Parts: sequence; C-alpha cells; structure tokens
Amino acid sequence: MTDSSNPTKPSRRAFLSGAAATGAALAASSAAAQSPDPLITEVQPWASGLGDGVDAAPYGLPIRHEADVIRRNVEWLTADTISSINFTPIHALDGTITPQGCAFERHHSGAIDMTKGDYRLMINGLVDRPLIFTFADLERFPRENHVYFCECAANTGMEWAGAQLNGAQFTHGMIHNMEYTGVPLRTLLNEAGLSGDVAGKWVYVEGHDASSNGRSIPLEKALDDCLVAFSANGEALRKEHGYPVRLVVPGWEGNMWVKWLRRVEVMDGPVESREETSKYTDTLADGTSRKWTWVMDAKSIITSPSPQMPIKHGPGPMVISGLAWSGHGAITRVDVSKDGGKTWQTARLAKPGEKMALTRFYLDTEWDGGDMLLQSRAIDETGYVQPTKAQLREIRGENSIYHNNCIQTWHVMPTGEAENVEVS
Ligand code: MTE
Ligand code: CO
Repeated sequence: MTDSSNPTKPSRRAFLSGAAATGAALAASSAAAQSPDPLITEVQPWASGLGDGVDAAPYGLPIRHEADVIRRNVEWLTADTISSINFTPIHALDGTITPQGCAFERHHSGAIDMTKGDYRLMINGLVDRPLIFTFADLERFPRENHVYFCECAANTGMEWAGAQLNGAQFTHGMIHNMEYTGVPLRTLLNEAGLSGDVAGKWVYVEGHDASSNGRSIPLEKALDDCLVAFSANGEALRKEHGYPVRLVVPGWEGNMWVKWLRRVEVMDGPVESREETSKYTDTLADGTSRKWTWVMDAKSIITSPSPQMPIKHGPGPMVISGLAWSGHGAITRVDVSKDGGKTWQTARLAKPGEKMALTRFYLDTEWDGGDMLLQSRAIDETGYVQPTKAQLREIRGENSIYHNNCIQTWHVMPTGEAENVEVS
C-alpha cells in the first residue's frame, strides 16, 4: 500500500500494520506482541461478574480514572476564591465542546444561587415600553442554538513579559466553547420597541450579582447576534455560568457576557463603567491606553503535546493537536511549526471552521525523538494571521494584561516532556 501523494513513501496505515506484524517499531505494542498479554489471554474481573446497574448514577460524572481532568487555579494569581478565576483543562479535552463541569469560571463577587421563579430581566431606557420578563416569558419567544467560544480578555495575560505558566490549561484555559440555546436579544429589544437611529446608541447590560459586572455594548452588536441564553450543551446553564440566564456576545471579550442577566438599558452613550475603563483596557507600548478592545483576535494553542500532556511514546507516528478561534469569524487555516517558526506545515482542521467557535486541528506527523519547538499559527476568514510575541510587543509593549493572542511555544524534549518557552 502506498501514499497516493508520494508513491515512494509507505502510507501511515501500512506502517502501523507492518509494525504490529514485525514487532519492529512502536516499542510498546511490539513488546506486548512478543509475550502473551494477560489482558488478551486471561478472563478479567470485569468480564466475570456484573457491572453497575443503570441507577448507579442518576446524573453521571466522569469515570474516576479521569479525575484529574478538572478546573484548576493559579494560587498566586487568586488571593481568594470568591473574586476569582479558574481554568479549563484544555490540555486534556478533545473535539471542541467544553463540558460545563470543567469550563473555566470568572466571578467578580462569587457565583449566586437564583431560582427560575425569582428571575427577572428588565429592558428600559430609550425604548417605547419598558418591560420586565420572567423566565417563563423568555421561554415563549422563538429560540435559537449556536456554538460560540467565550474567552476572558485576561486569557494568556500572565505571559506578556516572559514565558511563565507551565501548561496550556494555565496559559490558555480562560476559554470555553458551548452550544447555547436562547432568545436573540434583538427579539426582546424589538418587543420593548426601538425607534429612531441605531447608530450612536448603546445598551448597558448588568447582572443580578453584587458586582453587577455592568458593560456598555453598541446597539448594533446587541441587535446583530447577541443571545439571551438559558441552556448550554443541551442542559440548563450551571450556576457558575449564570443560571438561569446569561448574555452571549459572540466573538467579544468574555467580560461582556454578563451572567445572571438582570437589566438591559438602551442609552445614547456608553456608561464608561469600571469594567470598561480601569479594567479590560489595553496599555500600549508608548504608554497610552486603547479605549475599547471588544473583539477577540485570532489565536491558537497546541494542547497536546504540552507541559501537562508529555509525549508518552517513542519516536514514530504522533498526533499534534490543538484549538484555534477568532472573534472575527471562522478559522480557515492553522499552521504548525516544529522548529520555533522557521518552517511551517498546514494542519488538518477536524471540521471546517465555524464563526466565533473553537476549531480543532490535528497534525498527523512523525516524531524523530529529538527536541521540538512547537508552535501553532491561526488564520481567520478575514486573512488575519496570528502574530508572534515580538510582533505583538512592538505595538503593545510588555506592560499589558489583556488581549494577548500571540503565538505560543512549547519546547518538547527527547524525554517527551514539554515546557513553556519563548523564542526570539
Ligand atoms: N457576569 C457577572 N454578572 N458577574 C461576573 O463576575 N464575569 C465576567 C463575565 N460575566 C462576570 C460576568 C467575566 S470577566 C468573564 S471572562 C465571563 O463572565 C466568564 O464566564 P464564565 O464564568 O461562564 O466562564
Ligand atoms: Co473575564
């Protein structure tokens, strides 16, 4: 069997079956093939008795062997767990959907416990009829389903001045990607009645929690694709993600995705609240600050191998895997470099990129057992190419926190272990 693109090169499939037959390559499987493997030749306990009944777990959790696939925080970053952040274990997940149970959380004043019965959403300000909706009211409007990523503006924020956190979970784990069900904000605003020009108008959105997390959003975006969401991945939102209702602001920084959504006020200007002035504002290299940065630029990360996901096999076939996303639309291409950006290969997208949603990429390749400086580079439908750290620093300096979308480097060593490094 030969590879159609290169007749002289044996195909990957031929290589794998050949290896099993000769016991020559793929150290682990060839060793097992030489002596009888009790896992094949002996009857195992799980095959000689009964397993658990169907009612062992009315709502299932992952099997105990996956107990390390959990949210984690960085101790020195979070003084307490109320006003805090934890990180999605992106290194250990595959595909694109983030299970709610391990999706990062960011609360400014803790996650609140509300019932659907107590829930109210008010729309007021420059509308014809101010309205208050109950949860039951929201359920009577036509609803939609959409998969979107939510990335905190501070994701990768600790890496500006140098390589710091050892793991994709910590450098890039302030992101999740879920299928949301909800009512377009447009539908509710139209119910309240908008008259006059859209241009120049804003909505101010806030939550029921003590922080309220108030943010101003141009009315144009509110009428475009914002969703008043009550389900994620097919089930009710979890408490920590805003139960019973959160705002989804596709492609825009996570801080605008107000949880426990309480009020939407139509205004003739932005409020310039704390969350959009002293926080979530970008410091530039020349010492000035950029006022608004809402859209999350294209970004990508290799999730495996990575510091928390070392290579556990010898040289030969390997899969390099990662995630890419853009707030400007769909990912069209991801390139992977093994030599710190000197040469690039185009990775395989698991599915065509979807707008403002995570895209999974794979590079099915060979490892020679040597050092690698692994990088990935995302390109989105606007043609934008994810910048290097040096390119980003030219504009943004090193004294920033938010919106760091630079190319990440993992140094993979001959032991298979990986560490967070910078290349110049
Ligand atoms: N909404 C409210 N009401 N209170 C908050 O503290 N945190 C914001 C945003 N919405 C926040 C909020 C921030 S900074 C982010 S990144 C996202 O919610 C995080 O959403 P998650 O906790 O579902 O991951
Ligand atoms: Co945030």
